[in-house]
Amino acid sequence: MIAIIAAGLLALPALLVQVATALIVAFLSVPALCILLFRKPRHLRPNLGDPDGDAHVIITGGSSGIGLSIARECVRRGVRRVTILARTVSKLETAKKELEELNAQSKKTKQIKAVSVDVTDYKALEKTALELLGKTPSHSTYLFCCAGETEPAYFDDIPPDVFARITQTNQLGSIYTTKAFLPHMKAGTICFCSSICGQIGIFGYSAYSPTKFALRGFAECLHVELCNSPVNVQIAYPPDTDTPGFEKENVAKPKETQLISEQGGLSKPDDIARVMVTEAFRPNPRFNVYFTFDAWMLSSLTAGFSPIATMQDGVSQVAGMALFRFVSLFYLHDWWRIVRKFQEERDAEMSKTK
Ligand SMILES: NC(=O)c1ccc[n+]([C@@H]2O[C@H](COP(=O)([O-])OP(=O)(O)OC[C@H]3O[C@@H](n4cnc5c(N)ncnc54)[C@H](OP(=O)(O)O)[C@@H]3O)[C@@H](O)[C@H]2O)c1
Repeated sequence: MIAIIAAGLLALPALLVQVATALIVAFLSVPALCILLFRKPRHLRPNLGDPDGDAHVIITGGSSGIGLSIARECVRRGVRRVTILARTVSKLETAKKELEELNAQSKKTKQIKAVSVDVTDYKALEKTALELLGKTPSHSTYLFCCAGETEPAYFDDIPPDVFARITQTNQLGSIYTTKAFLPHMKAGTICFCSSICGQIGIFGYSAYSPTKFALRGFAECLHVELCNSPVNVQIAYPPDTDTPGFEKENVAKPKETQLISEQGGLSKPDDIARVMVTEAFRPNPRFNVYFTFDAWMLSSLTAGFSPIATMQDGVSQVAGMALFRFVSLFYLHDWWRIVRKFQEERDAEMSKTK
Protein backbone atom coordinates (compact mmCIF):
# COMPACT_ATOMS: atom_id res chain seq x y z
CA MET A 1 0.00 0.00 0.00
CA ILE A 2 2.86 2.41 0.89
CA ALA A 3 4.45 1.67 -2.51
CA ILE A 4 1.19 2.54 -4.33
CA ILE A 5 0.84 5.83 -2.41
CA ALA A 6 4.49 6.71 -3.12
CA ALA A 7 4.06 5.90 -6.82
CA GLY A 8 0.87 7.98 -6.86
CA LEU A 9 2.67 11.00 -5.39
CA LEU A 10 5.64 10.60 -7.72
CA ALA A 11 3.34 10.19 -10.73
CA LEU A 12 1.31 13.29 -9.93
CA PRO A 13 3.31 15.78 -12.06
CA ALA A 14 3.33 13.40 -15.05
CA LEU A 15 -0.38 12.67 -14.62
CA LEU A 16 -1.22 16.38 -14.50
CA VAL A 17 0.78 17.02 -17.67
CA GLN A 18 -0.93 14.03 -19.32
CA VAL A 19 -4.40 15.33 -18.40
CA ALA A 20 -3.57 18.79 -19.76
CA THR A 21 -2.08 17.29 -22.94
CA ALA A 22 -5.06 14.97 -23.34
CA LEU A 23 -7.44 17.95 -23.26
CA ILE A 24 -5.44 19.79 -25.93
CA VAL A 25 -5.09 16.66 -28.11
CA ALA A 26 -8.81 15.96 -27.71
CA PHE A 27 -9.69 19.46 -28.87
CA LEU A 28 -7.27 19.45 -31.81
CA SER A 29 -8.19 15.94 -33.00
CA VAL A 30 -11.90 16.66 -33.57
CA PRO A 31 -11.64 18.04 -37.15
CA ALA A 32 -9.54 15.08 -38.38
CA LEU A 33 -11.79 12.60 -36.57
CA CYS A 34 -14.79 14.03 -38.42
CA ILE A 35 -13.21 12.55 -41.55
CA LEU A 36 -11.59 9.44 -40.08
CA LEU A 37 -14.46 7.93 -38.06
CA PHE A 38 -16.00 4.78 -39.52
CA ARG A 39 -19.41 5.46 -41.08
CA LYS A 40 -21.54 3.19 -43.18
CA PRO A 41 -22.91 4.91 -46.27
CA ARG A 42 -26.47 6.14 -45.60
CA HIS A 43 -28.10 3.53 -47.83
CA LEU A 44 -26.42 0.82 -45.74
CA ARG A 45 -27.86 2.03 -42.42
CA PRO A 46 -31.12 0.20 -41.85
CA ASN A 47 -30.83 0.25 -38.06
CA LEU A 48 -33.38 2.80 -37.05
CA GLY A 49 -34.76 0.98 -34.05
CA ASP A 50 -37.14 -1.25 -36.05
CA PRO A 51 -38.55 1.24 -38.58
CA ASP A 52 -40.60 -1.21 -40.56
CA GLY A 53 -41.66 -3.23 -37.53
CA ASP A 54 -39.96 -6.30 -38.95
CA ALA A 55 -36.86 -6.84 -36.85
CA HIS A 56 -35.89 -10.29 -35.61
CA VAL A 57 -33.63 -10.58 -32.58
CA ILE A 58 -31.88 -13.93 -32.15
CA ILE A 59 -29.91 -14.63 -28.98
CA THR A 60 -27.66 -17.62 -28.33
CA GLY A 61 -27.49 -18.31 -24.60
CA GLY A 62 -30.93 -16.68 -24.42
CA SER A 63 -32.35 -18.92 -21.69
CA SER A 64 -30.31 -17.44 -18.85
CA GLY A 65 -28.33 -14.46 -17.55
CA ILE A 66 -27.29 -11.70 -19.96
CA GLY A 67 -28.87 -13.45 -22.97
CA LEU A 68 -32.26 -13.74 -21.26
CA SER A 69 -32.04 -10.08 -20.15
CA ILE A 70 -31.45 -9.08 -23.79
CA ALA A 71 -34.58 -11.03 -24.77
CA ARG A 72 -36.57 -9.27 -22.00
CA GLU A 73 -35.30 -5.86 -23.13
CA CYS A 74 -36.34 -6.61 -26.72
CA VAL A 75 -39.81 -7.71 -25.66
CA ARG A 76 -40.16 -4.54 -23.53
CA ARG A 77 -39.23 -2.51 -26.62
CA GLY A 78 -41.77 -4.37 -28.73
CA VAL A 79 -39.32 -5.94 -31.20
CA ARG A 80 -41.48 -7.94 -33.62
CA ARG A 81 -39.75 -11.34 -33.37
CA VAL A 82 -37.56 -12.58 -30.53
CA THR A 83 -35.89 -16.01 -30.59
CA ILE A 84 -33.78 -17.51 -27.83
CA LEU A 85 -31.36 -20.38 -28.43
CA ALA A 86 -29.71 -22.67 -25.86
CA ARG A 87 -29.36 -26.39 -25.19
CA THR A 88 -31.53 -27.24 -22.17
CA VAL A 89 -35.19 -27.51 -23.18
CA SER A 90 -36.62 -27.01 -19.66
CA LYS A 91 -34.66 -23.74 -19.20
CA LEU A 92 -35.78 -22.55 -22.64
CA GLU A 93 -39.43 -23.28 -21.84
CA THR A 94 -39.26 -21.39 -18.54
CA ALA A 95 -37.59 -18.42 -20.22
CA LYS A 96 -40.11 -18.41 -23.09
CA LYS A 97 -43.01 -18.45 -20.61
CA GLU A 98 -41.48 -15.49 -18.77
CA LEU A 99 -41.12 -13.54 -22.03
CA GLU A 100 -44.70 -14.31 -23.03
CA GLU A 101 -45.96 -13.05 -19.68
CA LEU A 102 -43.92 -9.87 -20.14
CA ASN A 103 -45.48 -9.43 -23.56
CA ALA A 104 -49.03 -10.20 -22.38
CA GLN A 105 -50.04 -6.56 -21.85
CA SER A 106 -48.56 -4.77 -24.86
CA LYS A 107 -48.57 -7.75 -27.25
CA LYS A 108 -46.19 -5.72 -29.42
CA THR A 109 -43.87 -8.69 -29.92
CA LYS A 110 -45.61 -10.90 -32.44
CA GLN A 111 -43.45 -13.99 -32.16
CA ILE A 112 -41.44 -15.44 -29.29
CA LYS A 113 -39.57 -18.64 -30.07
CA ALA A 114 -37.24 -20.89 -28.10
CA VAL A 115 -35.07 -23.36 -29.98
CA SER A 116 -32.80 -25.99 -28.50
CA VAL A 117 -29.46 -26.01 -30.29
CA ASP A 118 -25.84 -26.49 -29.28
CA VAL A 119 -23.58 -23.73 -30.65
CA THR A 120 -20.74 -26.23 -30.99
CA ASP A 121 -22.81 -28.21 -33.54
CA TYR A 122 -22.46 -26.39 -36.87
CA LYS A 123 -24.89 -28.61 -38.80
CA ALA A 124 -27.62 -28.02 -36.20
CA LEU A 125 -27.00 -24.26 -36.33
CA GLU A 126 -27.25 -24.25 -40.13
CA LYS A 127 -30.60 -26.04 -39.90
CA THR A 128 -31.84 -23.61 -37.24
CA ALA A 129 -30.76 -20.57 -39.27
CA LEU A 130 -32.61 -21.89 -42.31
CA GLU A 131 -35.77 -22.50 -40.24
CA LEU A 132 -35.65 -19.09 -38.55
CA LEU A 133 -34.43 -16.77 -41.30
CA GLY A 134 -34.34 -18.71 -44.57
CA LYS A 135 -38.04 -19.60 -44.49
CA THR A 136 -39.30 -16.37 -42.87
CA PRO A 137 -36.86 -13.60 -43.79
CA SER A 138 -36.94 -10.32 -41.90
CA HIS A 139 -35.84 -6.87 -43.00
CA SER A 140 -33.24 -6.64 -40.23
CA THR A 141 -31.79 -9.26 -37.92
CA TYR A 142 -29.95 -8.66 -34.67
CA LEU A 143 -27.81 -11.62 -33.66
CA PHE A 144 -26.44 -11.66 -30.11
CA CYS A 145 -23.82 -14.38 -29.56
CA CYS A 146 -24.04 -14.80 -25.78
CA ALA A 147 -23.71 -18.56 -25.27
CA GLY A 148 -20.64 -19.04 -23.15
CA GLU A 149 -19.13 -20.65 -20.11
CA THR A 150 -16.15 -20.37 -17.81
CA GLU A 151 -14.39 -22.35 -15.12
CA PRO A 152 -11.90 -20.18 -13.25
CA ALA A 153 -9.07 -22.13 -11.60
CA TYR A 154 -5.30 -22.18 -11.25
CA PHE A 155 -3.76 -23.05 -14.62
CA ASP A 156 -2.13 -26.15 -13.04
CA ASP A 157 -5.53 -27.47 -11.98
CA ILE A 158 -7.31 -27.17 -15.34
CA PRO A 159 -7.46 -30.47 -17.29
CA PRO A 160 -6.72 -30.20 -21.05
CA ASP A 161 -10.29 -31.15 -22.02
CA VAL A 162 -11.67 -28.10 -20.18
CA PHE A 163 -9.59 -25.79 -22.42
CA ALA A 164 -11.04 -27.59 -25.45
CA ARG A 165 -14.65 -27.41 -24.19
CA ILE A 166 -14.54 -23.71 -23.29
CA THR A 167 -12.86 -22.86 -26.61
CA GLN A 168 -15.50 -24.87 -28.49
CA THR A 169 -18.38 -23.05 -26.81
CA ASN A 170 -17.08 -19.49 -26.50
CA GLN A 171 -14.91 -19.08 -29.58
CA LEU A 172 -16.01 -21.66 -32.16
CA GLY A 173 -19.62 -21.40 -30.94
CA SER A 174 -19.73 -17.70 -31.89
CA ILE A 175 -17.91 -18.30 -35.18
CA TYR A 176 -20.22 -21.20 -36.14
CA THR A 177 -23.31 -19.15 -35.21
CA THR A 178 -22.13 -16.29 -37.43
CA LYS A 179 -21.26 -18.66 -40.27
CA ALA A 180 -24.74 -20.22 -40.11
CA PHE A 181 -26.82 -17.03 -39.74
CA LEU A 182 -24.93 -14.36 -41.70
CA PRO A 183 -25.88 -15.69 -45.18
CA HIS A 184 -29.55 -15.20 -44.23
CA MET A 185 -29.12 -11.69 -42.78
CA LYS A 186 -30.18 -8.85 -45.09
CA ALA A 187 -29.25 -6.14 -42.57
CA GLY A 188 -28.82 -5.61 -38.85
CA THR A 189 -26.09 -6.22 -36.30
CA ILE A 190 -24.05 -9.15 -35.02
CA CYS A 191 -22.94 -8.56 -31.44
CA PHE A 192 -20.35 -10.83 -29.81
CA CYS A 193 -20.38 -11.12 -26.05
CA SER A 194 -16.76 -10.97 -24.96
CA SER A 195 -15.80 -9.88 -21.44
CA ILE A 196 -13.37 -7.69 -19.53
CA CYS A 197 -11.37 -10.97 -19.66
CA GLY A 198 -11.21 -10.42 -23.43
CA GLN A 199 -9.29 -7.20 -22.77
CA ILE A 200 -7.09 -8.20 -19.81
CA GLY A 201 -5.58 -11.56 -18.89
CA ILE A 202 -6.91 -11.96 -15.35
CA PHE A 203 -5.55 -14.45 -12.80
CA GLY A 204 -7.50 -17.74 -12.87
CA TYR A 205 -9.04 -17.26 -16.32
CA SER A 206 -6.41 -19.02 -18.45
CA ALA A 207 -9.08 -21.24 -20.07
CA TYR A 208 -11.65 -18.46 -20.56
CA SER A 209 -9.68 -15.30 -21.35
CA PRO A 210 -8.05 -16.57 -24.60
CA THR A 211 -11.49 -17.45 -26.00
CA LYS A 212 -12.79 -13.94 -25.29
CA PHE A 213 -9.65 -12.29 -26.74
CA ALA A 214 -10.16 -14.47 -29.83
CA LEU A 215 -13.64 -13.04 -30.36
CA ARG A 216 -12.12 -9.59 -30.68
CA GLY A 217 -9.81 -10.78 -33.49
CA PHE A 218 -12.71 -12.48 -35.23
CA ALA A 219 -14.96 -9.41 -34.85
CA GLU A 220 -12.25 -7.12 -36.28
CA CYS A 221 -11.83 -9.35 -39.36
CA LEU A 222 -15.57 -9.56 -39.88
CA HIS A 223 -16.07 -5.82 -39.38
CA VAL A 224 -13.67 -4.96 -42.16
CA GLU A 225 -15.08 -7.69 -44.44
CA LEU A 226 -18.60 -6.31 -43.89
CA CYS A 227 -17.72 -2.62 -44.01
CA ASN A 228 -19.75 -2.22 -47.18
CA SER A 229 -22.64 -4.41 -46.10
CA PRO A 230 -25.81 -3.42 -44.20
CA VAL A 231 -24.78 -5.91 -41.48
CA ASN A 232 -22.86 -4.30 -38.61
CA VAL A 233 -20.41 -6.01 -36.29
CA GLN A 234 -19.74 -5.15 -32.68
CA ILE A 235 -18.25 -6.68 -29.56
CA ALA A 236 -19.34 -6.13 -25.97
CA TYR A 237 -17.13 -6.44 -22.88
CA PRO A 238 -19.42 -6.94 -19.87
CA PRO A 239 -17.87 -6.68 -16.41
CA ASP A 240 -18.79 -9.17 -13.62
CA THR A 241 -22.56 -9.53 -13.88
CA ASP A 242 -24.97 -11.11 -11.46
CA THR A 243 -26.20 -14.12 -13.48
CA PRO A 244 -26.67 -17.87 -12.83
CA GLY A 245 -23.42 -18.41 -14.78
CA PHE A 246 -21.56 -15.99 -12.53
CA GLU A 247 -22.99 -17.66 -9.41
CA LYS A 248 -21.75 -21.03 -10.69
CA GLU A 249 -18.24 -19.78 -11.48
CA ASN A 250 -17.94 -18.26 -7.99
CA VAL A 251 -18.12 -21.68 -6.34
CA ALA A 252 -14.58 -22.69 -7.30
CA LYS A 253 -13.05 -19.28 -8.06
CA PRO A 254 -9.52 -18.85 -6.68
CA LYS A 255 -9.39 -16.22 -3.93
CA GLU A 256 -6.96 -14.11 -6.00
CA THR A 257 -9.40 -14.03 -8.92
CA GLN A 258 -12.21 -13.00 -6.59
CA LEU A 259 -10.21 -10.14 -5.04
CA ILE A 260 -8.98 -8.86 -8.41
CA SER A 261 -12.31 -9.05 -10.21
CA GLU A 262 -14.44 -7.62 -7.41
CA GLN A 263 -12.55 -4.32 -7.81
CA GLY A 264 -14.75 -3.74 -10.88
CA GLY A 265 -18.02 -4.22 -8.92
CA LEU A 266 -21.00 -6.36 -9.91
CA SER A 267 -23.43 -5.26 -12.64
CA LYS A 268 -27.06 -6.22 -13.13
CA PRO A 269 -27.81 -8.25 -16.29
CA ASP A 270 -30.77 -6.00 -17.19
CA ASP A 271 -28.47 -2.93 -17.18
CA ILE A 272 -25.94 -4.72 -19.40
CA ALA A 273 -28.73 -5.83 -21.76
CA ARG A 274 -30.21 -2.32 -22.04
CA VAL A 275 -26.87 -0.95 -23.24
CA MET A 276 -26.24 -3.88 -25.62
CA VAL A 277 -29.66 -3.56 -27.28
CA THR A 278 -29.41 0.24 -27.56
CA GLU A 279 -25.95 0.00 -29.11
CA ALA A 280 -26.93 -2.77 -31.56
CA PHE A 281 -29.91 -0.79 -32.83
CA ARG A 282 -27.96 2.41 -33.56
CA PRO A 283 -27.84 3.37 -37.27
CA ASN A 284 -24.04 3.39 -37.13
CA PRO A 285 -23.18 1.17 -34.14
CA ARG A 286 -19.91 1.53 -32.24
CA PHE A 287 -17.55 -1.46 -32.51
CA ASN A 288 -16.45 -1.76 -28.87
CA VAL A 289 -19.34 -1.76 -26.40
CA TYR A 290 -18.44 -1.04 -22.76
CA PHE A 291 -20.51 -0.44 -19.67
CA THR A 292 -18.81 1.34 -16.76
CA PHE A 293 -16.37 4.21 -16.26
CA ASP A 294 -13.47 1.77 -15.68
CA ALA A 295 -14.52 -0.15 -18.79
CA TRP A 296 -14.55 3.05 -20.84
CA MET A 297 -10.91 3.66 -19.82
CA LEU A 298 -10.02 0.03 -20.55
CA SER A 299 -11.73 0.05 -23.94
CA SER A 300 -9.93 3.25 -24.90
CA LEU A 301 -6.61 1.80 -23.74
CA THR A 302 -7.06 -1.50 -25.57
CA ALA A 303 -8.57 -0.03 -28.74
CA GLY A 304 -5.54 -1.06 -30.82
CA PHE A 305 -6.46 -1.08 -34.51
CA SER A 306 -10.19 -1.48 -33.93
CA PRO A 307 -12.62 0.73 -35.84
CA ILE A 308 -14.09 3.86 -34.22
CA ALA A 309 -17.62 4.93 -35.12
CA THR A 310 -18.36 7.66 -32.57
CA MET A 311 -16.66 10.99 -31.82
CA GLN A 312 -16.75 10.20 -28.09
CA ASP A 313 -14.71 7.00 -28.62
CA GLY A 314 -12.40 8.69 -31.14
CA VAL A 315 -11.51 11.50 -28.77
CA SER A 316 -11.02 9.30 -25.70
CA GLN A 317 -8.84 6.81 -27.61
CA VAL A 318 -6.65 9.35 -29.39
CA ALA A 319 -6.25 11.63 -26.39
CA GLY A 320 -6.51 9.30 -23.42
CA MET A 321 -4.36 6.27 -24.23
CA ALA A 322 -1.12 7.42 -22.59
CA LEU A 323 -2.94 8.61 -19.49
CA PHE A 324 -4.96 5.38 -19.18
CA ARG A 325 -1.77 3.33 -19.64
CA PHE A 326 -0.25 5.09 -16.64
CA VAL A 327 -3.39 4.43 -14.57
CA SER A 328 -3.38 0.74 -15.63
CA LEU A 329 0.09 0.30 -14.11
CA PHE A 330 -1.34 1.11 -10.67
CA TYR A 331 -3.98 -1.62 -11.08
CA LEU A 332 -1.34 -4.12 -12.27
CA HIS A 333 0.89 -3.33 -9.31
CA ASP A 334 -1.99 -3.98 -6.94
CA TRP A 335 -2.83 -7.30 -8.61
CA TRP A 336 0.78 -8.50 -8.27
CA ARG A 337 0.59 -7.57 -4.57
CA ILE A 338 -2.58 -9.69 -4.15
CA VAL A 339 -1.11 -12.67 -6.02
CA ARG A 340 2.22 -12.57 -4.16
CA LYS A 341 0.46 -12.37 -0.78
CA PHE A 342 -1.58 -15.50 -1.48
CA GLN A 343 1.41 -17.32 -2.97
CA GLU A 344 3.38 -16.66 0.23
CA GLU A 345 0.44 -17.85 2.36
CA ARG A 346 0.11 -21.02 0.28
CA ASP A 347 3.87 -21.68 0.47
CA ALA A 348 3.82 -21.22 4.25
CA GLU A 349 0.89 -23.64 4.58
CA MET A 350 2.63 -26.23 2.40
CA SER A 351 5.85 -26.07 4.37
CA LYS A 352 3.81 -26.54 7.59
CA THR A 353 2.15 -29.70 6.24
CA LYS A 354 5.48 -31.20 5.09
N1 LIG B 1 -21.85 -13.09 -15.96
C1 LIG B 1 -20.70 -12.44 -16.09
O1 LIG B 1 -20.11 -11.98 -15.10
C2 LIG B 1 -20.12 -12.23 -17.46
C3 LIG B 1 -19.15 -11.23 -17.61
C4 LIG B 1 -18.60 -11.03 -18.87
C5 LIG B 1 -19.01 -11.80 -19.95
N2 LIG B 1 -19.95 -12.76 -19.76
C6 LIG B 1 -20.33 -13.54 -20.94
O2 LIG B 1 -21.70 -13.34 -21.18
C7 LIG B 1 -22.29 -14.51 -21.73
C8 LIG B 1 -23.47 -14.93 -20.87
O3 LIG B 1 -23.00 -15.16 -19.56
P1 LIG B 1 -24.01 -15.42 -18.36
O4 LIG B 1 -23.28 -15.19 -17.10
O5 LIG B 1 -25.27 -14.72 -18.62
O6 LIG B 1 -24.19 -17.02 -18.54
P2 LIG B 1 -25.28 -18.04 -18.00
O7 LIG B 1 -26.23 -17.42 -17.05
O8 LIG B 1 -24.51 -19.25 -17.55
O9 LIG B 1 -26.04 -18.43 -19.36
C9 LIG B 1 -25.32 -19.09 -20.37
C10 LIG B 1 -26.29 -19.39 -21.49
O10 LIG B 1 -25.57 -19.99 -22.55
C11 LIG B 1 -26.20 -21.23 -22.89
N3 LIG B 1 -25.18 -22.13 -23.40
C12 LIG B 1 -24.04 -22.56 -22.79
N4 LIG B 1 -23.36 -23.39 -23.57
C13 LIG B 1 -24.07 -23.49 -24.73
C14 LIG B 1 -23.91 -24.23 -25.93
N5 LIG B 1 -22.85 -25.04 -26.11
N6 LIG B 1 -24.83 -24.09 -26.90
C15 LIG B 1 -25.91 -23.29 -26.74
N7 LIG B 1 -26.12 -22.58 -25.63
C16 LIG B 1 -25.22 -22.70 -24.63
C17 LIG B 1 -26.85 -21.68 -21.58
O11 LIG B 1 -27.92 -22.58 -21.74
P3 LIG B 1 -27.69 -24.19 -21.80
O12 LIG B 1 -26.65 -24.53 -20.78
O13 LIG B 1 -29.03 -24.77 -21.54
O14 LIG B 1 -27.22 -24.47 -23.18
C18 LIG B 1 -27.38 -20.35 -21.09
O15 LIG B 1 -28.56 -20.02 -21.76
C19 LIG B 1 -21.18 -15.56 -21.77
O16 LIG B 1 -20.60 -15.56 -23.05
C20 LIG B 1 -20.18 -15.04 -20.76
O17 LIG B 1 -18.88 -15.46 -21.05
C21 LIG B 1 -20.52 -13.00 -18.55
